[in-house]
Amino acid sequence: MSGLSELDADFTRLPALPAGVFTAPLQRPAHVGEDWLEPRQTDYAADDHRVWDDLFARQMHVLPGRAATAFLKGLERLDLGRGGIPDFARLSAELGALTGWSVVPVPMLIPDHVFFWHLANRRFPAGNFIRPRERFDYIEEPDVFHDVFGHVPMLTDPVFADYMQEYGRAGWKAMRYNRLKALGALYWYTVEFGLIREAAGLRAYGAGILSGPAEAVFALEAQSPNRIMLHVDRVMRTDYAIDDLQPTYFVIESFADLYRQTVERDFDRLYRGLGAGFTYAGSAVIDVDDVLHRGTLEYHLRGGRRSGASAD
Ligand SMILES: [Fe+2]
Repeated sequence: MSGLSELDADFTRLPALPAGVFTAPLQRPAHVGEDWLEPRQTDYAADDHRVWDDLFARQMHVLPGRAATAFLKGLERLDLGRGGIPDFARLSAELGALTGWSVVPVPMLIPDHVFFWHLANRRFPAGNFIRPRERFDYIEEPDVFHDVFGHVPMLTDPVFADYMQEYGRAGWKAMRYNRLKALGALYWYTVEFGLIREAAGLRAYGAGILSGPAEAVFALEAQSPNRIMLHVDRVMRTDYAIDDLQPTYFVIESFADLYRQTVERDFDRLYRGLGAGFTYAGSAVIDVDDVLHRGTLEYHLRGGRRSGASAD
């Protein structure tokens, strides 16, 4: 078998976790079942809705001219700026009519295998809660703003929507080879922090970039980070920073190219050839890279977020 995913796997029910697979020890809250889904979306307070509106307004100052066309189109088609935290049922009906995806509420980060299973069924698990106003700028766990504003617009793009499903199916193969870290790097450098080359210039499509105030400018305009054309093998060998701006961003030519690179590659062979750790540091530029911008790495050399280094 080749390809990113397990084509013959049955995902109608949650498959049993393969033996010996390590997953993060998350304590499942008593009120959710094996699927980790909340029975219903939270009843938000009026100020929760205002936090959404304020976050939305802030992003709309930053994103025109920086967000991928597909993202901005998705935002508009789903009318995510109509005011307040979107109702998941209505959002799912609209998204479902476009690409067959739905948005389902979860209480917190969920185990990898459950997350993969939902994606494989075209369900996007979104955090039910919204950050409190005191933590407007920085959150440790993805909330409803990151998940819905950041991720859901891209699910209106039919090719990207297929890529996300394929990724979910791929999780089970990666678990079997114990190569979740490598697959996680692919998610990180595409779904969360991906850039795309459009006719008008580079644009961001990654939710981690699009849902925060600082990273879009840094990723697209700063001298500090590397910008390198994406090759799936290379990316899956590359470490990443989970709590700071990235030293390197990977750029795709199109969503069709990303999809092709992931479904056509022989992942069984790739996983067999990968070590347990990463080969390349997040800041590395290697001789086979197609480099669009070689970064000064100034931000990270100054010590990054921990040192209070400025991102400009
Ligand atoms: Fe995310």
